Amino acid sequence: MWLVTLYRSTIGKKSIMAVTGLVLVAFVIVHMAGNLQVFLGPAKMNGYSAFLKSTGELLWLVRLGLLTALVLHVLMAWQLTRVAAAARPHDYARRDARASTVASRTMRWGGVLLLAFIVFHLLHFTTGTLFPTASRPDAVYPAFSEHDVYGNVVSAFHNPWVVAVYVVAMLFLLLHLFHGAWSSVRTLGLSKPSPQPLHRRIATVVAIVVWLGFTAVPVAVLLGVVR
Ligand code: HEM
Repeated sequence: MWLVTLYRSTIGKKSIMAVTGLVLVAFVIVHMAGNLQVFLGPAKMNGYSAFLKSTGELLWLVRLGLLTALVLHVLMAWQLTRVAAAARPHDYARRDARASTVASRTMRWGGVLLLAFIVFHLLHFTTGTLFPTASRPDAVYPAFSEHDVYGNVVSAFHNPWVVAVYVVAMLFLLLHLFHGAWSSVRTLGLSKPSPQPLHRRIATVVAIVVWLGFTAVPVAVLLGVVR
């Protein structure tokens, strides 16, 4: 079947990487915009969260889609890394890269760090596992409430260490998006080869807007702008 043939080829794996990456980019843009509601107060933000949770099966369908995209994205990264290592067991004596950036050179390790952040983040804000409970009253963060996302965000980001984790993770997200948002459209042939591959207006704007929007929330809480 053509789908299996595509999956087995390097370009097929790269295309899966690009498509799933773009799905994840769309998610982070929507999530970042949703988070900015923290500046509109608890009623707005908690209302938005309650609305999302009230969609029931639809929410689970979106979660399943996102999880599938993430698993495929990580799996393809792993397989492509192995293919590349097998094709060139010894590195070049000299690298003369055309469009190498810090972002492109940190895609693999930065990606692993982002994956670790996502696991931490889900345990933090979605399941509340990292918040204290009656049996763990000494945990670092104040109490977690499924119905008070605003309260969870404000209390969690009173801790400068938690803010530091999020700020550093968002810097890795900035780098990952700067390279990924550009290379995915190149892989899919949606943009033409350019003589100036470092001029990437859309990827730069997407990466900076997402970074600013996400970072603003923990920083605003720490500075007391949101309380
Ligand atoms: C400063 C940055 C971020 C903040 C303040 C933040 C905040 C939150 C909060 C409060 C929730 C819980 C929402 C609710 O229960 O209604 C949440 C859920 C989530 N966040 Fe984030 N987030 C940030 C960055 C990210 C990033 C970069 C990613 C992915 C790369 C991400 C992925 C998720 C996912 C997958 C969920 C679970 C959604 C669900 O319930 O299905 N977040 N986030």
